[in-house]
Amino acid sequence: MFISFEGGEGGGKSTQVRTLADRLRAAGHDVVTTREPGGSPGAEAIRDLLVNGEADRWSPITETLLMYASRRDHLERVIRPGLERGAVVLCDRFADSTRAYQGAAGGAPRGLIADLERDVLEGTLPELTLILDLPVEEGLKRAHGRGGAEARFEGKGQAFHERLRQAFAEIAAAEPERCVLINAAQPLDAVAADIWTAVSERLASGRVDGTNG
Ligand code: TMP
Repeated sequence: MFISFEGGEGGGKSTQVRTLADRLRAAGHDVVTTREPGGSPGAEAIRDLLVNGEADRWSPITETLLMYASRRDHLERVIRPGLERGAVVLCDRFADSTRAYQGAAGGAPRGLIADLERDVLEGTLPELTLILDLPVEEGLKRAHGRGGAEARFEGKGQAFHERLRQAFAEIAAAEPERCVLINAAQPLDAVAADIWTAVSERLASGRVDGTNG
């Protein structure tokens, strides 16, 4: 069972990953929580290069390749081993972030990203993707409130972040079987409740069973 959390800045993904993990563990599931870029030692080293420094440090194509280098290591060392032993893997960001940040908002070629998804992920894709959506201004305000570290993407300007929000909404609309858009502007408890509804529906329908389909 592979579940990803997606969305722009300041949507509260990491809090919601923890809350869902607690709830699934209480229900008796083996749960792995992880994040991208990063999640394995090699991928965390690449994360450092990606999330720190000047906004224009890397071009969108270079960024895409670094994201996929880190993603492949993470997939081999954490995600696949977790899925193989039957755990629920909760991942804070995954391939949709590359489609949105480097592709739709950054301008990296869609074909390159589609090829990398196919050849690097080899079908290991989330069965459920929770997209935490909130107005850009609100999200950036929350993200800035967190402090100055890892702020490279936050510094890309309002227009970039508006394109990003639009891109995630389009992904949700294009893949309604996989994606659920969650209103992240609500109080934390209400966000967690919406997430639990989406997850338990999948569990009940047997659609989240680790077989990708
Ligand atoms: P985080 O703030 O959610 O930990 O993510 C770190 C940053 O990395 C965030 O600004 C989004 C960005 N990112 C991409 O641009 N492309 C990707 O594929 C991933 C996974 C993250």
